[in-house]
Amino acid sequence: METHRAHCLLLPYPVQGHLNPMLQFAKRLQHEGVKITFAITKFLFETLDEVSASISVETISDGYDEGANGIVMEIYWPRFQKVGSETLTELILKLQDSGCPVDCIIYDSFLPWCLDVAKDLGVRAGVFFTQSCAVNNIYNHVHKGLLKLPLEESGVDIPGLPPLLASDLPSFVSNPGLYPASTQLFAHDQMENFEEADWIFFNTFYGLEEEAIHWMAKILPVKTIGPTIPSMYLEKRLEDDKQYGLNLFKPMTNACMSWLNERSISSVVYVSFGSLAELEVKQMEELAWSLRASSYNFLWVVRESESKKLPKDFVKETFGKGLIISWCPQLDVLAHKSVGCFVTHCGWNSTLEALSLGVPMIAMPQWTDQSTNAKFVMDVWKTGIKAGPDEAGIVRRDAISQCINLVMDGKKGQEISKHAKKWKDLARQAFDEGGSSDKNIKDFVSKLIQS
Ligand code: UDX
Repeated sequence: METHRAHCLLLPYPVQGHLNPMLQFAKRLQHEGVKITFAITKFLFETLDEVSASISVETISDGYDEGANGIVMEIYWPRFQKVGSETLTELILKLQDSGCPVDCIIYDSFLPWCLDVAKDLGVRAGVFFTQSCAVNNIYNHVHKGLLKLPLEESGVDIPGLPPLLASDLPSFVSNPGLYPASTQLFAHDQMENFEEADWIFFNTFYGLEEEAIHWMAKILPVKTIGPTIPSMYLEKRLEDDKQYGLNLFKPMTNACMSWLNERSISSVVYVSFGSLAELEVKQMEELAWSLRASSYNFLWVVRESESKKLPKDFVKETFGKGLIISWCPQLDVLAHKSVGCFVTHCGWNSTLEALSLGVPMIAMPQWTDQSTNAKFVMDVWKTGIKAGPDEAGIVRRDAISQCINLVMDGKKGQEISKHAKKWKDLARQAFDEGGSSDKNIKDFVSKLIQS
């Protein structure tokens, strides 16, 4: 008979950038003897390209089992809350009836209604913030009314953080009028009840955001459990944990890895904007131009839905020098010796992955938390440079080319590589035996089984 120390039901928000960190957290808990049930939406379950993680997957519904394409957030969120609450309740009761009751729900902070479900059923709950401590701190300040929107100043001072310009803040804070539903969710709804959860988890690690974590931990019992990167890229204690394991996109692994294998050391500029960002056609053109003009090879992930924006004949003209693919095994790519730098939108997962693997970054933030991550990459961790946009919001070809040359070559590049190595070591240490994140996970499990 299967024995386990406790049973946790994990509820990720259904996009790639939230599935990955929650899944890694699940694997860490499983390693500590906790039984895991991972609950994803029915639609996601049907559309997954790959489920290779060795965890049990169940479904709930967001009310859109045929997909929510074209549904605006103002409609999607309340329906997810209503149908999600009902189907989550059913799932918890089903697990209870099957003789394997849930001891704790761990839910994405984007799904704050999970806490109400847990409380109604008398189950303990932990909220999991997948984004950085700095970003959580900023949203919490907005929610508490300590940072008023729309901003009246060009910069802000927030305890635990360096001075920030408005342009360094998450887009939902610097420009709340652009996506009002997202500002409501990020800066208010997710901050509304999280202090009532039994545990508060952040996907970061102590060494990385010491001051921000120290400040937040003074007011809240925050536990850092990141970076949520597969163990084989960190301290290597979880056997076979090399990939995340739930893919919404099909990676072109063979094409990409064999192409990289044929390139020389640190000769490739890797470019990716994650799973959601949509670039303007003009931005694609500027980027394409700078990649074509550069003296380095490039590997560029252009998702299928974005590929029509590529300049005509670009693929043909750059054949050999560059490879364009619709999705790649990003961790393998970042860990590959031929990759010299990462042109990134600075999604939090990509940022943590590059930090953990010691890859210098060129930051081209697009929206949401990415500007704040970019600010830290450049000015706090010093592992990259931000390619700044012009007044029209477009990062021009010359700015990108200049950053590529600076990072790939010369004194600046060497300094950046030195810093990158430091964060790589610290990321691994967080999960070494007794490291800060390892300890926090063990503490959580021991409290869970004691009470
Ligand atoms: C979203 C938000 O945009 C981001 O800002 C937030 O912090 C998390 O949620 P996304 O835009 O997809 O995520 O970016 P990111 O956080 O970087 O996550 C993308 C994930 O997809 C990473 O884990 C990355 O390794 C993976 N990926 C990306 C691949 O596996 N292959 C690819 O080709 C590109």
